[in-house]
Amino acid sequence: MKILITGGAGYIGSVTNAVLRQQGFETVVFDNLSLGHRQAVRDTKLIVGDIRNKEDIDQALASESFDAVVHFAAYSLAGESMEKPYEYFDNNLRGGLNLLEAVRLHGNPSVIFSSTSAVYGYPDHVPVMEDAAIAPVSVYGSSKRMVEEMIEWYGRIYSTNFVILRYFNAAGALPDGSLGEAHGRESHIIPIALDVASGKREKFELYGNDYETPDGTCIRDYIHVVDLAHAHLKAVEYLSRGGESTAINLGVGKGYSNLEVLDTVERVTGQRVMRSFAPRRPGDPAKLWADNQKARTVLGWEPEYPELATIIETAWKWHQKRLEDGKK
Ligand SMILES: NC(=O)c1ccc[n+]([C@@H]2O[C@H](COP(=O)([O-])OP(=O)(O)OC[C@H]3O[C@@H](n4cnc5c(N)ncnc54)[C@H](O)[C@@H]3O)[C@@H](O)[C@H]2O)c1
Repeated sequence: MKILITGGAGYIGSVTNAVLRQQGFETVVFDNLSLGHRQAVRDTKLIVGDIRNKEDIDQALASESFDAVVHFAAYSLAGESMEKPYEYFDNNLRGGLNLLEAVRLHGNPSVIFSSTSAVYGYPDHVPVMEDAAIAPVSVYGSSKRMVEEMIEWYGRIYSTNFVILRYFNAAGALPDGSLGEAHGRESHIIPIALDVASGKREKFELYGNDYETPDGTCIRDYIHVVDLAHAHLKAVEYLSRGGESTAINLGVGKGYSNLEVLDTVERVTGQRVMRSFAPRRPGDPAKLWADNQKARTVLGWEPEYPELATIIETAWKWHQKRLEDGKK
């Protein structure tokens, strides 16, 4: 099968590309390299284009016949989205719509869409099921929900087949440490904690320690990036078998508090992670973890790396490799 991967030079996209190719899929990456890295695409064919330009994505889909498109290309920082709503709506909505129209015009391949647990906002109940209320509390979460709706409409009107995957927190790296998270402006807890452990940053600033959780810090579900990649592969296969279009949560189904994450980073690295507390940030729910039954039953997916320590070990390996290569 041949798959187009938008955003395939980014963190999750590059790992998914590597896993798909390892499993014998043919892939092409489409990325404007604004946040991604050319070397992360390795020897895969790379089309440098911008999804906001209708012609760029139209040409990419016209150039070859694809069985599926995996759509990662987007802006994805909730905090930043509240400062730059125009950029987020423009990139995520316009990009999503241009992609869907190109899909419709060129053979209607299946669409696998990177959505997020942020569409649930402050959920009433954990673990979060797919039928929980949709109530995003950031421009980012809202933009992802709007693209979900566009996809659902294209499904109804043009019979475009799709799987919407709502990821919880992606983390970790390829187990050999050769591909991982390399965001220019890092905002995720594990890479920042690893920066503190390796002396690149002085301390970790935790937002809020007065949440209604056992240690007062927020609880999140961390899913290994390779497990995410496998879920994409399974979603492509599911649709190719004639599976019905649907939305599915991707998480390990267990939450860890921010303090537990920092303590696990200390255990894995053998280094202190100095920390301080800052006030709560708007838009952070206290507890967020997935009910992943649907992924298990519908896709036949199961996480291979559900333990936080293993996730951090792979991230640490990648982090150290980058330090050795002088890339940080
Ligand atoms: N990282 C997470 O924990 C997480 C959680 C939930 C959902 N997601 C979603 O997963 C996807 C990938 O996330 P990531 O962490 O790998 O992000 P990333 O920033 O590492 O990758 C995004 C890629 O898309 C490319 N891109 C952005 N705008 C583009 C455009 N206009 N045209 C072409 N390419 C463009 C970037 O250059 C980059 O390579 C995003 O859609 C994000 O919303 C991520």
